[in-house]
Amino acid sequence: MVYSAAEDRYQQMQYRRCGNSGLKLPLVSLGLWHNFGQIDKYENARNILRLAFDKGITHFDLANNYGPPSGSAEETFGSIFKKDFKPYRDELIISTKAGWGMWPGPYGDLGSKKYLVASLDQSLKRMGLDYVDIFYHHRPDPDTPLEETMGTLDLMVQQGKALYVGISSYQPAEAAKAFAILKQLGTPCLIHQPKYSMFERWIEDGLLDLLGNEGVGCIPFSSLAQGLLTNKYLKGIPQDSRAASHRGNGAMDEDAVTDEKIEKVKKLNALAEQRGQSLAQMALAWVIKDPRVTSVIIGVSKPEQVTDSIKCINNYAFSSEELSLINQMLG
Ligand SMILES: NC(=O)c1ccc[n+]([C@@H]2O[C@H](COP(=O)([O-])OP(=O)(O)OC[C@H]3O[C@@H](n4cnc5c(N)ncnc54)[C@H](OP(=O)(O)O)[C@@H]3O)[C@@H](O)[C@H]2O)c1
Repeated sequence: MVYSAAEDRYQQMQYRRCGNSGLKLPLVSLGLWHNFGQIDKYENARNILRLAFDKGITHFDLANNYGPPSGSAEETFGSIFKKDFKPYRDELIISTKAGWGMWPGPYGDLGSKKYLVASLDQSLKRMGLDYVDIFYHHRPDPDTPLEETMGTLDLMVQQGKALYVGISSYQPAEAAKAFAILKQLGTPCLIHQPKYSMFERWIEDGLLDLLGNEGVGCIPFSSLAQGLLTNKYLKGIPQDSRAASHRGNGAMDEDAVTDEKIEKVKKLNALAEQRGQSLAQMALAWVIKDPRVTSVIIGVSKPEQVTDSIKCINNYAFSSEELSLINQMLG
């Protein structure tokens, strides 16, 4: 069936300016790390993407190694883009990344110009795109000079293969250096993509302040702790969950579902109920409550999770009592 996007899609979402840039992102973005690979159901992936866009999610986040196997999430996206989203290209922010191991040998990993240039060309081919909206360096490389990596991001923008650039998982000191180099090159860093959730709060120790001061956007990932910060593991590990699926490529497994975590999740779940939210909604709301956070990237395995999670935008205000209660619950 020919896809036609919901006419009221922009009334359903809120958009925040990304740092000091001219670009706005939806408060909730969709990530394709898992559930869009060759091993996954194509029609499910297609239904998720259509529903997300119908709900005003204009930003889809990818990387060269998403799948599994690596590369296959970009292929799935490219195929669905061609069928459903081509007429909407100018309404979409599509990102990809390179930085983790992608192909054998010394040129398929980390942060050299050799790797990044080849990887973006491959990503564009897999997705059938002329350019991506955001290209990220996916993780810091301790050996390649930052000037080389950042210079390559600048080159991609000069070549028109990326409109904006970002970095992911850089600590504050190295992020500050990267921002300075990019600024000097005339390609300011648009955005930083860190892991951030109620369970992982390292960005509160300096990174958020740096991003706020530098006017760089922030787009956290794994804010549901891969599903732990939802109600799905309260009564054991469901067969169809990420923890049970052994997908590899960084996906959580059963070991992550500890009694200690579940005790905390139970308390958080009770508070979410009091607030009239699902725990997933409250966990995401807790992340977007900070105005320096531009958008939160959600992962989903089924369309219903888009519908549920996206409702976090209806209530992301927390009283100081609620915030200290949450801190106590997290211990
Ligand atoms: N830059 C980086 O290094 C990096 C690293 C990781 C991720 N990311 C990006 O961030 C995105 C999100 O990461 P993530 O998948 O780890 O995110 P997440 O949002 O923490 O976890 C997603 C998982 O949570 C469960 N879930 C989602 N909504 C739910 C709901 N409403 N109720 C119950 N369960 C729900 C689903 O698990 P089930 O599958 O069990 O149903 C889903 O697959 C990725 O796709 C990627 O774009 C970036």
